[in-house]
Amino acid sequence: MSAAVISTETQSNLSQTLTIQCPPNGLSLQGRIRVPGDKSISHRALMLGAIAQGETTIQGLLLGEDPRSTAICFQALGAEISELNTELVQVKGIGLGNLQEPGDVLNAGNSGTTLRLMLGILASHPGQFFSVTGDSSLRSRPMSRVVKPLQQMGAEIWGRQGNSLAPLAIQGQALKPIHYHSPIASAQVKSCILLAALSIEGRTTVTEPALSRDHSERMLRAFGVELTVDPETKSVTVTGPAQLYGQTVIVPGDISSAAFWLVAGAIVPGSELVVENVGVNPTRTGILEALALMGADIQLENQREVAGEPVADLRVRSSSLQSCTIAGDIIPRLIDEVPILAVAAVFAAGTTVIRDAAELRVKESDRIAVMAQQLTKMGAKVTELPDGLEITGGTPLVGTDVDSYTDHRIAMSLAIAALNATGITTVHRAEAAAISYPGFFQSLTEIIH
Ligand code: S3P
Repeated sequence: MSAAVISTETQSNLSQTLTIQCPPNGLSLQGRIRVPGDKSISHRALMLGAIAQGETTIQGLLLGEDPRSTAICFQALGAEISELNTELVQVKGIGLGNLQEPGDVLNAGNSGTTLRLMLGILASHPGQFFSVTGDSSLRSRPMSRVVKPLQQMGAEIWGRQGNSLAPLAIQGQALKPIHYHSPIASAQVKSCILLAALSIEGRTTVTEPALSRDHSERMLRAFGVELTVDPETKSVTVTGPAQLYGQTVIVPGDISSAAFWLVAGAIVPGSELVVENVGVNPTRTGILEALALMGADIQLENQREVAGEPVADLRVRSSSLQSCTIAGDIIPRLIDEVPILAVAAVFAAGTTVIRDAAELRVKESDRIAVMAQQLTKMGAKVTELPDGLEITGGTPLVGTDVDSYTDHRIAMSLAIAALNATGITTVHRAEAAAISYPGFFQSLTEIIH
């Protein structure tokens, strides 16, 4: 079997074009892959390290652009963070409430997690003024979901369109505790409020409609914060004022990055891949359940617990997939994996329906619209729903020009779709992959046979 031809070309504006040409007789994927560190855990390790007393050591930090944005912001706020050029990073914390007012605007780049979580920390620094912004994608994403609860706590925040869009200006205040019922299951909203509550005297509770990822809760506890979780009511309560102490954080591989290989291994005939050291926190494993429902052959091997997070190696072998319906409480547990799940659905028999996922419209791009348009361009049968996608599988894909819309997860999803397409697929603005997965295209080249 001859291998695919994969090449990347960088334009003068640093935009990158990825070209994948599949051999006429197809290809197969074989090998072992180690995905980079979990993005959500990486952000939190840097932030908690910065506001803790003493030193935090982070092993396995994601060296992608998003955590770099977090590191740059917290360095500007006074934390000492070692250079992000190895996966071992040291943070010298400056203690809760001790961040310094920076002399310039804080830039969160493309990262919603950086901006929303940081907002909670900044809003609770009385007497200090901060301004925060991001790239054009982040400046169009809704911030009122965190601004409103923070205002209920007494925060002073201003921004465009009724204080709902970055750039935002924050005048730090002594905040008061609240019980907030979040209308959306969002770990960013939940974490923002919990972080704001750390310096407040009393109990602050966040209740969400469905369980979102719980990395903040796990890591806050590890840093010494008193926190109670009620899974029945989906509530988390933090009692402040808290004291955080520097820790060693070991970051597992990101299941959201592993998802590309799981789907690739499942859909490309004759493939077998092992993705090593993947975080399998139950609030993140919706993708494993969805792929199991579709008949994917995925096994969890070497299951273990590393620094408070469950971890496993994931073995995937190609198999024939069937359609399924994905909706309801599982959605927050696979929200970032919907683009690659859509690719799996293109190769599954029958019609897959994904609903209750309107949140995808306000991610780094409108992921519902972009995936529907780009997969349709390749010949897939996809219907856009207000809150999801309807995909009828079985139509062969044909290589063509597609675009990431500068969204990392779209760039990688389209590259995986291209592995099962005839002819040449060109993914424009493919450099976006480096937001969460530097080295993705290199790994892709290595596993193709
Ligand atoms: C994240 C939470 C999710 C997810 C994002 C990372 C986090 O966003 O999509 O990639 O680290 O808390 P929402 O909280 O907006 O659902």
